[in-house]
Amino acid sequence: MGTILEFMSHDHDRLDAIFAEFCKESDAEKARDLFSQFDTGLRAHIAWEEEILFPPFEDRTGMRNTGPTAVMRMEHQQIKQHLQTILETLGETDPSTSVNALVQVLTAHNLKEENILYPWLDRTLPEEESLALLDRIRRSQAGTS
Ligand SMILES: [Fe+2]
Ligand SMILES: [Fe+2]
Repeated sequence: MGTILEFMSHDHDRLDAIFAEFCKESDAEKARDLFSQFDTGLRAHIAWEEEILFPPFEDRTGMRNTGPTAVMRMEHQQIKQHLQTILETLGETDPSTSVNALVQVLTAHNLKEENILYPWLDRTLPEEESLALLDRIRRSQAGTS
């Protein structure tokens, strides 16, 4: 049974790979399909964090409206805005500006989660609680795919 760090980092890598395929794809139809997979997957990933993983951090540290998860929630909003911009410009104009902006915020964001938040959860939560959180994520994954 993997840790939260392993599971969530693996999902970052999976999404990065879909996005890289999207960036290389010259066929408009295929690019749209890859972007749609990426968009759906990233929004689900963000929901797991905001609804399942951030609350135990916020409950234990008392940091909710300030601190790392408040920053990460704000970054999630930025990420979703970039997703929306890319979606709106798909196939019309060169989306490279919004693509670059998304890559920039997402890369730094994911590193922070992998270096700080996920290891904190693995270190701090009792094993049965971590397993229960991962189980909730897997169940929601099964429900959406
Ligand atoms: Fe995140
Ligand atoms: Fe993440």
